Amino acid sequence: MSDSFDTGLRPDELNPERPHPLETPWGSFALYVVGGRVHAASSFCPHLEGPLFQGTQRGEVIMCPWHFWCFSLVTGKRVDITGRVFQSAARIQVLPVSQSPAGTIVLGAPLLPT
Ligand code: FES
Repeated sequence: MSDSFDTGLRPDELNPERPHPLETPWGSFALYVVGGRVHAASSFCPHLEGPLFQGTQRGEVIMCPWHFWCFSLVTGKRVDITGRVFQSAARIQVLPVSQSPAGTIVLGAPLLPT
């Protein structure tokens, strides 16, 4: 399996108001724009597989629409809505994001097992 995946998308093609779901070699992820930077996080919630990408985003925090668990889009850790870290093993997968020479968004392989 490759250790990177070129999405073919440029950052300016993303809508900062909503996530951009996509399939990757490591499963379903969504791209988010946080403070002008692109982040890639699991599309589904580790609680009961709720559609996290359909949740409410506030800054770097995404809240699952099913039972309102929140996660940092930057670290993947479970947090509260203000971003304070919970003492919880639950987390989402986040991928390293870079840009190709052509300016497209490139995702790196997950740092944690998928
Ligand atoms: S499925 Fe996401 S909080 Fe329950």
